[in-house]
Amino acid sequence: MCWLHAVSLISVIFFTCGSVAAVGGNNYWYTEEQPVATTKPSFHVNGYNIYGSQPANGGLPANGGPTYRSETNFGGQPANGGLPANGGLPANGGLPANGGLLANGGLPANGGLPAKRGQLPYGTPTHIGQTIYRSQPNYGGQQRYNARPRQLEYKCIEGNLQYDCVFYDVHIDMQTQDVYFGFEDITLNNQKIVTFKNSTMRKLPAALLASFRQVEVLNLNGLQIEQIDTNAFAYAHTIQKLYMGFNAIRYLPPYVFQNVPLLTVLVLERNDLTSLPRGIFHNTPKLSMLSMSNNNLERIEDDTFQATTALQNLQLSSNRLTHVDLSLIPSLFHVNVSYNLLSTLAIPIAVEELDASHNSINAVRGPVNVELTILKLQHNNLTDTAWLLNYPGLVDVDLSYNQLEKITYQHFVKMQRLERLYVSNNHLVALNLYSQPIPTLKVLDLSHNHLLHVERNQPQFDRVEYLYLDHNSIVTLKLSTSHTLKNLTLSHNDWDCNSLRALFRNVAHPAVHDADQHCKIDYQLEQGLCCKESDKPYLDRLLQYIALTSVVEKLQRAQGRCSATDTINSVQSLSHYITQQGDVPLQGNEQLEAEVNELRAEVQQLTNEQIQQEQLLQGLHAEIDTNLRRYRLPKDGLARSSDNLNKVFTHLKERHAFKLRETQARRTEANAKQKETEDLEQENIALEKQLDNKKAKQAELRQETSQKRQKVKQLEAKKNRNPDTRRVTK
Ligand SMILES: *[C@@H]1O[C@H](CO)[C@@H](O)[C@H](O)[C@H]1NC(C)=O
Ligand SMILES: *[C@@H]1O[C@H](CO)[C@@H](O)[C@H](O)[C@H]1NC(C)=O
Ligand SMILES: *[C@@H]1O[C@H](CO)[C@@H](O)[C@H](O)[C@H]1NC(C)=O
Ligand SMILES: *[C@@H]1O[C@H](CO)[C@@H](O)[C@H](O)[C@H]1NC(C)=O
Repeated sequence: MCWLHAVSLISVIFFTCGSVAAVGGNNYWYTEEQPVATTKPSFHVNGYNIYGSQPANGGLPANGGPTYRSETNFGGQPANGGLPANGGLPANGGLPANGGLLANGGLPANGGLPAKRGQLPYGTPTHIGQTIYRSQPNYGGQQRYNARPRQLEYKCIEGNLQYDCVFYDVHIDMQTQDVYFGFEDITLNNQKIVTFKNSTMRKLPAALLASFRQVEVLNLNGLQIEQIDTNAFAYAHTIQKLYMGFNAIRYLPPYVFQNVPLLTVLVLERNDLTSLPRGIFHNTPKLSMLSMSNNNLERIEDDTFQATTALQNLQLSSNRLTHVDLSLIPSLFHVNVSYNLLSTLAIPIAVEELDASHNSINAVRGPVNVELTILKLQHNNLTDTAWLLNYPGLVDVDLSYNQLEKITYQHFVKMQRLERLYVSNNHLVALNLYSQPIPTLKVLDLSHNHLLHVERNQPQFDRVEYLYLDHNSIVTLKLSTSHTLKNLTLSHNDWDCNSLRALFRNVAHPAVHDADQHCKIDYQLEQGLCCKESDKPYLDRLLQYIALTSVVEKLQRAQGRCSATDTINSVQSLSHYITQQGDVPLQGNEQLEAEVNELRAEVQQLTNEQIQQEQLLQGLHAEIDTNLRRYRLPKDGLARSSDNLNKVFTHLKERHAFKLRETQARRTEANAKQKETEDLEQENIALEKQLDNKKAKQAELRQETSQKRQKVKQLEAKKNRNPDTRRVTK
């Protein structure tokens, strides 16, 4: 609400400006891309150019050409001795530019032109036949004496009641340099509410706010800004509201908001921010409204808002946030963190409206907050509602599209003003609001759940105005004649016809806002709703349910898909159903009892089997651990056993491969040795053979020798027997 106050305050300001502008006539500022040649020499008097000031009343001839006076004046004296509130019109004031609008008259809404300097600007576009007289360049507050033409220069016109300065057709890209805004004497650029139309500005230059140093509201939405000059806001000491949405800003320079102590509203929605520089908001203590929705932010670090103690309104929807601890920003009042990736929601102490829908939230924490009025948590992963006890002031709670299984009065006992509770599209099987109905509740949406028996909640149903029960499995419903229902939905349930007939005796049909069309077999349309005739409706549904379950189970068992867990779950929901129903005469039906017993036995058997399997599994896990220890593998505590087992397998495989390689090397070595041995043996044999040959030859030679000796002996003997020979030889 504080935020709304600020807005209405601003519209008051706008209105004031509007009236001032009206006093000066429909005054406009001109945009001017190229400066036009100066046709009149400048006079330098104490560093100021003084071109004859115009009559303050702006009552210049409506179409009278250049009407400046050529007299110069004088030593920094007020040109016109203190200009009147409408700012003293410039040279060409009163010209029928754009249909009788003054070219740049009515200057400052604050009326207080720089009277103490006595200086007036001359900036007149030639295309309407005006000449331009430049004042001394006074850019950045420095006096410069050598006027040089400014490359690219934009001037603004007063646009409408909302803005006292609108720039048209400004086009700046990444390469643009030396761009100038407004008058060279920056004291003349005293507009406070500035915007751009039909413009693009790829890079936000420092020049804009260096020239316009009194801006309080700056609207830079939709200018295709990609980059912000580090010094873009270095002179923006007065800025309070800064709109930079619908651009393409990828990052913020770390110190860009260092000198904006009065910044109250900052809008950066629909940009390409992925993160925020550390400490980016540490010097913006007055920041009360910040929007950064539709960016790509991933985290909001815990110290981001430690200095923004006035931050009330925070818009962060449609980012990729996995972390933001809102409870660290106790000043928050309105928050939107919808469409992110949060799994925990930390609710701050005084937030009044909080939209955290479309996340993956499964835990809600934070201090007690009695202010919280509207809480949107649809499309999350909640399984529990006990945390609601911390928010007794809730009026409006949306918990639809979660994983809730029951709604119980215990979590709502502290609610003092709860009017609307939305729990559609959950997994509700149990509803207990009968023990202690919520007295203030007006809207209760329970549609699209698995509710079956809700009749007991009549005390609650009777006192609400809107009750949505469609798309459940409800069989019977009772309402008293004094119910306050205005709208009731009942279609897509499992109605008992007798119950419907009784119900419609107490409920005027127009209150029922939906209907069934086609009924399944055994069902008929009655009062626009499908229902079934039976004497004992719950028993009938129970039998039907059991039959269905058995059929499904038999089928699954036949296909080997029947798991013990499934069976246990279905029997549990069955027994829940029975407990809820309480007085179903189960005993009467022997066939039913037999079947239930049979099922129980089967469940028991399956449970035993499951226990055995689990034991086996545990044994296997232990064995895996033993192996891990044995092979000195580190155990990853968080990993599943199968992963650890894989680790053992990988290790063993590697070990095996290593051993195999080693064995092969040994074998090759052995083979080589064996070959060597064989070669040696072969050589041995050859040598032996050679030896044998030698021996044989030796024997042969010996024999030959002895034969020869024999022969010699014989010959000697012959010789002795012959005397002639003896003689001869003597
Ligand atoms: C917008 O700017 C473009 C390009 O500068 C120009 O051609 C066009 O006339 C402008 N449109 C309006 C409505 O001023
Ligand atoms: C939060 O933001 C989403 C997305 O922009 C929007 O649809 C929703 O209406 C906002 N919630 C509130 C409470 O304004
Ligand atoms: C949240 O719930 C959805 C839908 O039931 C499910 O697909 C998703 O895995 C859940 N996410 C978490 C983080 O639990
Ligand atoms: C009643 O509820 C239905 C279903 O939500 C809706 O279409 C209809 O407009 C509601 N009627 C009134 C009077 O609120």
